[in-house]
Amino acid sequence: MTKIKPLRGELAVPGDKSISHRSIMFGALARGTTRVTNFLQGADCLSTIDCFRAMGISIENHTDEVLIHGKGLHGLSQPADVLDCGNSGTTTRLISGILSAQPFTTELTGDASIRKRPMGRIMTPLSQMGAKITSLDNNGCAPLRICGQKLHGIHYQSPVASAQVKSAILLAGLYADGITRVTEPYVSRNHTELMLGGFGARVSCEGTTASIKPPDELFAQEIAVPGDISSAAYFLTAAALIPGSELLIKNVGINPTRDGILRVYQAMGADITLLNERICSGEPVADLLVKSAPLCGSDIGGSLIPTLIDELPVIAVAACFAEGTTVIRDAAELKVKESNRIAVMVESLSAMGADVTETEDGMIIHGGRPLHGVVIDSHLDHRIAMSFTVAGLICGEMPEITGRDCVRISYPNFYEDLDRCMK
Ligand code: S3P
Repeated sequence: MTKIKPLRGELAVPGDKSISHRSIMFGALARGTTRVTNFLQGADCLSTIDCFRAMGISIENHTDEVLIHGKGLHGLSQPADVLDCGNSGTTTRLISGILSAQPFTTELTGDASIRKRPMGRIMTPLSQMGAKITSLDNNGCAPLRICGQKLHGIHYQSPVASAQVKSAILLAGLYADGITRVTEPYVSRNHTELMLGGFGARVSCEGTTASIKPPDELFAQEIAVPGDISSAAYFLTAAALIPGSELLIKNVGINPTRDGILRVYQAMGADITLLNERICSGEPVADLLVKSAPLCGSDIGGSLIPTLIDELPVIAVAACFAEGTTVIRDAAELKVKESNRIAVMVESLSAMGADVTETEDGMIIHGGRPLHGVVIDSHLDHRIAMSFTVAGLICGEMPEITGRDCVRISYPNFYEDLDRCMK
């Protein structure tokens, strides 16, 4: 048992992963130089940079800014080799939308996790638009071969609320004849719609439908990336639950398609105040002041799920320390993330002593059982490694997390930042 230390002081989490990826992609397709500050230097976003460099885009990655020398919508060139998307689903799926319309053939692959993730969800709509995409192992996963074609607009009814699917289709729609529309069961994160609009594309949104009319050109932008609420989530959770904590997390993106964790924690009784609310490069941003308070259980499902999908592992941790029962439902998408996050959370939280039951589309957690440190396999999933670090901090017994360095995917300095808040 180590001493449980409160989190205190101030912290700025790194830039938003989704917005960082998009800044490179749209910058590459715009005319002129796009300047990005607070870019996330995580391995996933570096995979996106590498892919666009391989297609002839000059990208300067300095510590304080990234400069993308875009060549316009038709400026990409055929890469000499297979594109390596690493661990990044966002890179793989969004790039596929762009590649579907290029006048060349490309092959895409990634690490062992990416090669197990479902790509049929983008292959189906992109094929309906006229794209020629094949899964080289014939299993609906990467490696993919994409032979660019002339595309036509479609109205796609997506069976899943997924910004990666929606964005792949909208990006293909940049090149299609006529209007391209995507309707989702619930609204997923809308960074593509907001940022593409800023670059001059004609994007409109109505209810759960997003549409794009092909533009003549995109224009280079200045983008200040807000801090990632998905990274802030670990600090929010630890500070909300460790008695005596008072932490100010500065410059966090609070886009309503991403802020579900704030709404859920507030409903559970957390003391979180939004300060200095503002708009930054078209995205809502605030400083989050969090003070510890007792939490109670919650029922989390429906349209809330896409707004906190990446935070569910750490929300499950919080639920173990809350009084009463938390039900997470409608979250089957968790099974096809970097790991099967339902199975991994249930197995590992149970190993720590929690009362958790797996359901078809989520889990049921009865809070209040004492947790203890055991060996936890991260499955090389960054959000699993960070969630169990938080569990260890709250219960006072740090689990031994195998593969813990996988945090470099989305938060290279996670452990250092945590140490600084606990001094
Ligand atoms: C992302 C969308 C989400 C999210 C992922 C990033 C994006 O995935 O889980 O971490 O940048 O568009 P899905 O669209 O597959 O739900």
